[in-house]
Amino acid sequence: MGLLSPLFCAILVTMSVTSNANDAQKEFLDAHNAARAVVGVAPLAWNWTLAMYAQEFANRVKQTCDNTEESSGPYGENTASGYGAFTTTDAVSQWVEEKVNYDHQLNSCVNGTECKHYKQVVWRASLHLGCASVLCGAVFILIASLQKILPTAQKMGLSLKLSIALIFTITFSFKPYPISCLSQDDRTTFLTIHNEARAQVRVGPLSWDNKLESYAQDFANTAKSGCIPRKRPEGSPYGENTAEGYGAFTAWEAAGQWVGEKDNYDYASNSCVKEECKHYTQVVWRNSTRLGCASVLCGAGIAPDDYRLEYLVPQNDARSKENLPPVVWNDTVAEFARSYAKRRSVDCLLEHSRSQQYGENLAMSTGEMSPAQAVKMWVDEKADYDYGSNTCTLGKMCGHYTQVVWRNTESIGCAKAQCTNGGTFITCNYYPPGNYIGERPY
Ligand SMILES: *[C@@H]1O[C@H](CO)[C@@H](O)[C@H](O)[C@H]1NC(C)=O
Ligand SMILES: *[C@@H]1O[C@H](CO)[C@@H](O)[C@H](O)[C@H]1NC(C)=O
Ligand SMILES: *[C@@H]1O[C@H](CO)[C@@H](O)[C@H](O)[C@H]1NC(C)=O
Ligand SMILES: *[C@@H]1O[C@H](CO)[C@@H](O)[C@H](O)[C@H]1NC(C)=O
Repeated sequence: MGLLSPLFCAILVTMSVTSNANDAQKEFLDAHNAARAVVGVAPLAWNWTLAMYAQEFANRVKQTCDNTEESSGPYGENTASGYGAFTTTDAVSQWVEEKVNYDHQLNSCVNGTECKHYKQVVWRASLHLGCASVLCGAVFILIASLQKILPTAQKMGLSLKLSIALIFTITFSFKPYPISCLSQDDRTTFLTIHNEARAQVRVGPLSWDNKLESYAQDFANTAKSGCIPRKRPEGSPYGENTAEGYGAFTAWEAAGQWVGEKDNYDYASNSCVKEECKHYTQVVWRNSTRLGCASVLCGAGIAPDDYRLEYLVPQNDARSKENLPPVVWNDTVAEFARSYAKRRSVDCLLEHSRSQQYGENLAMSTGEMSPAQAVKMWVDEKADYDYGSNTCTLGKMCGHYTQVVWRNTESIGCAKAQCTNGGTFITCNYYPPGNYIGERPY
């Protein structure tokens, strides 16, 4: 730290896309045709060429993580996006609701309002419709301390869903809302929470610094694809807090987490009691004068409330601590895990499947047990693993942990079964398998 140590924090929010276009076909079509029927226009027919085109566009959005893109294709195009349980019907409703803005007599939108999406929906000459709907992943926010990254995860429920409808014969296009930058409200929130915490301990306020914001954004962007930011090169000139969270993780919650560590800070001894307090001490650091934050939406391609995240997140968290790439979900492996969990549900015995193909971690409880609890048991074995000698503490287990952090393992599949005796059986399988004798995990 120099004389001035401006505070810096980063919120990472990246997005990804999964497809569920097929399920939505009827919904898209019905919603369009209902609006057309009202004004006596013939119904549209579904067209897979258009639907595929929409899907390709969606995949492009996925790759660039930029949903302000237009397909610039030969078809008419409406796009809508919304947070949370945003359905295909909601998307089409958004377009149809523009009807109030459309003056049919003058064939124009009233008073500069929007109505072209509605016009596209009821365009008489349009014959075919093809749509795609994609889920743009979890909001993920990462918290790092002054010295190093200390991620803590928090789950909540939010997803951004982007619906794209392409309609044959007309050309309209529309930019969906940008999502990956801080809003002015977010900046205000960050600043307010910091400065309130500072005022409480009579430390002067911070002011917003655009250069720090852009420095934070550069860092945040490194986490776009895998939700794991690249480690900072040594010697970053700024103090740094990061926060990560799934779902509707806001600036409010991120900064609130840091300030919430106040209870852990003992001023008299200038040390943390109980738990972490370094984020808080950075927030109220007297010599800090400026603040810049950023956020990025990153994605695992999985909806934030998906059960798979309960297995993936804590294991990838453990991997990221060793600088290892994240594992992804593998349906084939998961099917194996499911069938084995089902077999074990009659006795809940902690017995391995003896699969030659997969690594395997098991957990059992006589009562209810969550995937998070099972994974925590495995990851907590880290305390009993000595990397230097590549052995477990005498009399302790650490093989579950070494499988979790096995570098060459790329994908996992897990399952949970309620046993007939009231217990819970949880299994994760790993491909390619780890724990080769005599080899280090990473
Ligand atoms: C904070 O600032 C004061 C005076 O402005 C200076 O004496 C002190 O060394 C600074 N502390 C740190 C840790 O930079
Ligand atoms: C679907 O739309 C494409 C592109 O406009 C068109 O060439 C094709 O004939 C349509 N397919 C059907 C079955 O109508
Ligand atoms: C359009 O704006 C004018 C002036 O602001 C207002 O008088 C008029 O009622 C508006 N028309 C509609 C349809 O909202
Ligand atoms: C999933 O596991 C199978 C082996 O069961 C493997 O062949 C396949 O490549 C894996 N897929 C991914 C995405 O890792």
